[in-house]
Amino acid sequence: MLRNYNRFTSISSLISKRLNSSSTMTSKLAPLSASKVKISVRPENERNQPIKNEDLIFGKDFTNHMLTVNWDNKQGWHAPEIKPYGNLSLDPSTCVFHYAFELFEGLKAYKSLKNEKDIIMFRPDKNMERMNKSSDRICLPTFESEELIKLIEELIKLDKDMIPKGKGYSLYIRPTMIGTSEGLGVHTPDKAMIFVICSPVGPYYKTGFKAVSLEATDYATRAWPGGVGDKKLGANYAPCIKPQLEAAKRGHQQNLWLFGPNKNITEVGTMNVFFALKNSQTGKKELVTAPLDGTILEGVTRDSVLALCRENLDPAEWEVNERYLSIDEVKERAAKGELIEAFGSGTAAVVSPIKNISYQGVDISVPLQEGKQSGKLTEDVMKWISDIQYGITEKANWTKVF
Ligand code: COI
Repeated sequence: MLRNYNRFTSISSLISKRLNSSSTMTSKLAPLSASKVKISVRPENERNQPIKNEDLIFGKDFTNHMLTVNWDNKQGWHAPEIKPYGNLSLDPSTCVFHYAFELFEGLKAYKSLKNEKDIIMFRPDKNMERMNKSSDRICLPTFESEELIKLIEELIKLDKDMIPKGKGYSLYIRPTMIGTSEGLGVHTPDKAMIFVICSPVGPYYKTGFKAVSLEATDYATRAWPGGVGDKKLGANYAPCIKPQLEAAKRGHQQNLWLFGPNKNITEVGTMNVFFALKNSQTGKKELVTAPLDGTILEGVTRDSVLALCRENLDPAEWEVNERYLSIDEVKERAAKGELIEAFGSGTAAVVSPIKNISYQGVDISVPLQEGKQSGKLTEDVMKWISDIQYGITEKANWTKVF
């Protein structure tokens, strides 16, 4: 398996060299340029009004405007358009509908809790970097990250009154790219479109910051070596719903995705996953998440959790490791009282505490703090990240304030 995987990575680096040389060949194509944007605004009397925080449901409502940018292989990127939110019109033969030429991102903008007028975007450069990696993988065009960030900023400013205020509330931004070539031939799209829509959101789960129960899933696989599990492709998400429904039938909110003969833990639902363990002999604690081996989404929140834990946790007490962790190790260590806590991490929920894992019909219970919905580290991580997102603490290069 490992040998095949290495062979794939060398094939994939060859392909990416070819792609790079073909993008050099096409370097006369117009780059994405924010300065060319054309803006048409929705008349005041037709606009949706801000929604009350208590009425927000994740991803249900959208702001008044959207961004679209078309691309074709003769011209390159066309002039971006910011216009009233509305339907797209595409021929039914368009390749996105048939061969899944689609990728997306998720990032958020926050109303600062320190300076009321400031809007804060959290690490948009990381999302743009990942979006370009996803588009390259499915032969869609890459783009100038800084330019798309500037365009998103313009889009948000136009609808800034719809960004909800308060901790737990934000504007969820969904940049998407699709192949728009018409026809049923399977080939590199000669046309593509980026669109960006924005949704005012509250907590991802209706229940709020509440620990979830998982079913360890080994009968279905989210991602595999040589696959595209590390890319944010829509095609990675639809196949995961059926196993989620199966888990739900047995009373669990999410799947804990396992992989391979060792049943290594990879991700939880649509999120990366972290486990905190304690060595009962030495007393030393360890925070573990799966390594980025091509099967794990390169989560921006994952990266932020790792960076903040490496910065804030005392190394005499804690080790922070990206390593394989099998469900059997979790089970054995839980039996010895060495499982301290576990949580998922993602843009939508930030962190999502875990209280239970059902594995082969047996429950592994994950400790929570007395009378609370999470462990202490999960709570600390949530605070460290959200304080930066809401402008309470500063972290150089992690925020774009406007
Ligand atoms: C996230 O956790 O950030 C996600 O990607 C979830 C999203 C698909 C709604």
